[in-house]
Amino acid sequence: MAASFTRALFTLAFAVTASATVSYSGETLVVNGISYYASPNTVSIISATADMLSSASTTGVDLIPLTVLEDTTSSFTTSVFRSVVGNYTAADDVFNTGFLQAIYLKHTGSSPATVAYPLGAALTQYETKLFMPSRAYTSSVEAQGHNFTGWRTEIPAGPYFLSASTGEVYQAYRLYSDVQGAFTEGLIPNTDGSFSVLSAAVQGAQSPTIGVPSKLYYTKTAAKPLAGVRLGVKDIYDIAGVKTSCGNRAFYELYPVKNITAVAVQKLIDAGAVVIGKMKTSQFANGETATADWVDYHSPFNIRGDGYQDPSSSSSGPGAGIGAYEWLDIGLGSDTGGSIRGPSEVNGCFGNRPSHGLVSLDGVMPLSPNLDTAGFLTRDPFLWHEAAKVLYGDNIASNFTSFPTKILTSGFPTSASNEANAILLDFLSKLQTFLNATTTAINVATLWSTSGPAAAGGASINDYLGIVYPVLISQQQYELVTLPFYVDYAAAHAGKRPFVDPAPLIRWAYGQNNVSADATAQALQNKTVFMDWWAESVIPSNAQSCSESILLYPGSTANPTAPVPPTGFGISRVSNFAEVPDMVFPVGQAAYNSTITLQEEYLPVTVDILAAKGCDGMIFALAEALTNAGILKIPGVGSLIDKLNFYCTLLVFK
Ligand SMILES: *[C@@H]1O[C@H](CO)[C@@H](O)[C@H](O)[C@H]1NC(C)=O
Ligand SMILES: *[C@@H]1O[C@H](CO)[C@@H](O)[C@H](O)[C@H]1NC(C)=O
Ligand SMILES: *[C@@H]1O[C@H](CO)[C@@H](O)[C@H](O)[C@H]1NC(C)=O
Ligand SMILES: *[C@@H]1O[C@H](CO)[C@@H](O)[C@H](O)[C@H]1NC(C)=O
Ligand SMILES: *[C@@H]1O[C@H](CO)[C@@H](O)[C@H](O)[C@H]1NC(C)=O
Ligand SMILES: *[C@@H]1O[C@H](CO)[C@@H](O)[C@H](O)[C@H]1NC(C)=O
Ligand SMILES: *[C@@H]1O[C@H](CO)[C@@H](O)[C@H](O)[C@H]1NC(C)=O
Ligand SMILES: *[C@@H]1O[C@H](CO)[C@@H](O)[C@H](O)[C@H]1NC(C)=O
Repeated sequence: MAASFTRALFTLAFAVTASATVSYSGETLVVNGISYYASPNTVSIISATADMLSSASTTGVDLIPLTVLEDTTSSFTTSVFRSVVGNYTAADDVFNTGFLQAIYLKHTGSSPATVAYPLGAALTQYETKLFMPSRAYTSSVEAQGHNFTGWRTEIPAGPYFLSASTGEVYQAYRLYSDVQGAFTEGLIPNTDGSFSVLSAAVQGAQSPTIGVPSKLYYTKTAAKPLAGVRLGVKDIYDIAGVKTSCGNRAFYELYPVKNITAVAVQKLIDAGAVVIGKMKTSQFANGETATADWVDYHSPFNIRGDGYQDPSSSSSGPGAGIGAYEWLDIGLGSDTGGSIRGPSEVNGCFGNRPSHGLVSLDGVMPLSPNLDTAGFLTRDPFLWHEAAKVLYGDNIASNFTSFPTKILTSGFPTSASNEANAILLDFLSKLQTFLNATTTAINVATLWSTSGPAAAGGASINDYLGIVYPVLISQQQYELVTLPFYVDYAAAHAGKRPFVDPAPLIRWAYGQNNVSADATAQALQNKTVFMDWWAESVIPSNAQSCSESILLYPGSTANPTAPVPPTGFGISRVSNFAEVPDMVFPVGQAAYNSTITLQEEYLPVTVDILAAKGCDGMIFALAEALTNAGILKIPGVGSLIDKLNFYCTLLVFK
């Protein structure tokens, strides 16, 4: 008995050993107190002698922090060295002087160059040398560079890790804790174009860890206008090599890793953007309110104000991340009924719902294909426009010759009765001057009742459009996502149904139980009638300015938010049904009394801007022009979007 048991164990152990596969997934290191991740992919190999490399490894750790330093001056002196190091430190959050443990100097300046202390050597033009200045600091004799046969592969300047045992060189990623809970997981690129989940973790809020590569590796070019731009992607877009959750744990568990990256994400990657992680979405991109509805995953934290206001949904992760993290440049979200605009408004950043149909949504979970759009959330209006050109290509007008000179407003305050209203009116006044425009207040419901389309048969706008949105999202998503998910899940789990959060369940039930099976066809018909009326009678296109007018409405007014159901008609529904762009501009911040801190805190004030279909490019250009004119400001990260103005307010009023 005992003997056969032993033999069985031996056989098992042998089988396991014989079939083992082991792969390297990178490693984490701490350099001068900062956590880094060395990518598992070799970017180059230094053919230096083994004893030279091992002598450089003074820390007992195989990986030596290395800086590839590029010098274009005629004489590489100490002051040039310090200037380059200063520039790297200022330009890049990944580089720190600990990476000067080893220096690979690429001297492309004129010949010969004197390399003074701390390196102390002579270089001819285009000569490259590897220095170990940690030795140079103690002895000027040892400061000589070492000859080596050079890179197998040329790599850009920046911080790297060099293996003392093999000479292999790896990219360095700085690690940040996702303290706001904005991400679902950190990603790193594989060499075949797919991605892997980042295998690193650091201390901080018990949240995922995100790795960002050095900015010094990237140079923007015409072909790579987004080179090095750090991109977070809402977790309804597929990315090859990793799973898509759509905000649902059962969905994440059920389906295998994706093998194709969504078209929209791939366009951004091809233009040089660096995907650093997947970001949270409310479940199946339906509207959810923090924290009651977020059962499967906790809602991200909106850092503005007291830090406990709703981040809005469904592109909550990108909104919360852009509001909080200097190390995240742009988020890719989606907007079906306000899912980019809502998070942009309350997290205080730029955000666009584009004209409908500008980019393929292949590889993206649908809510309603007739309403779904892909757009951005960012603090930087210039990057916003650049990224839009990549994502939408020629589908956004860029041939307009002037900005519109007609401003329409809806729901705008008429007096500066509070801080937010004062900010909105101040922005409107500056915009009017900037555009040399006339401003007319409109009420869409009134316009509709006095000069609405005959096809609507006199129905009020609320009766005509009030259920278009909930009908479309519930019936279309049920067909396209829910049914196949239920069938696949049941097949894999003995007929069981998966858990789904309350909000999507209530919406799907509405489409199944409360309206007729052909309600979608009716809803699309009503939507088309509205769209045609809007384009003809409210905001027509224009040959010079693309759009005859722009329409402004208040986005957020520094009021702590309350949940609302998705029925009814409001100004924020116009873009959904008329397929026109609706873009959020942050214009300031206003105080409210926090029930949490028991102090006055500040929340963003934002404006939404609409134009005719396809005129997205004109609004992007307007955001740039207003920023250049000082009328718009780039919002900061953190509790206050405008720290300077906050201190001015204190000086004036306190
Ligand atoms: C460092 O940056 C400054 C400002 O951009 C530039 O003038 C200087 O030439 C840079 N130093 C080197 C060594 O490239
Ligand atoms: C580097 O190589 C050159 C030419 O082969 C040689 O003259 C020089 O002495 C070498 N320097 C060192 C530090 O080995
Ligand atoms: C990608 O995945 C799909 C669905 O699992 C599968 O049908 C297809 O064959 C895969 N394609 C490749 C190239 O592996
Ligand atoms: C503003 O518009 C008015 C009337 O359309 C015109 O006379 C004036 O020249 C314009 N001013 C500027 C600065 O464009
Ligand atoms: C949908 O129908 C159910 C059952 O008839 C009802 O209880 C519920 O209030 C309805 N919901 C809506 C949004 O109309
Ligand atoms: C479409 O409009 C008609 C006419 O007002 C209205 O009765 C109906 O409820 C609307 N249907 C949908 C699905 O929006
Ligand atoms: C811009 O292009 C569109 C579509 O080609 C055209 O209809 C419009 O007239 C053009 N506008 C200008 C100012 O050239
Ligand atoms: C906050 O409360 C204080 C005390 O009631 C009040 O004076 C102040 O105006 C309030 N601030 C805001 C922004 O409502």
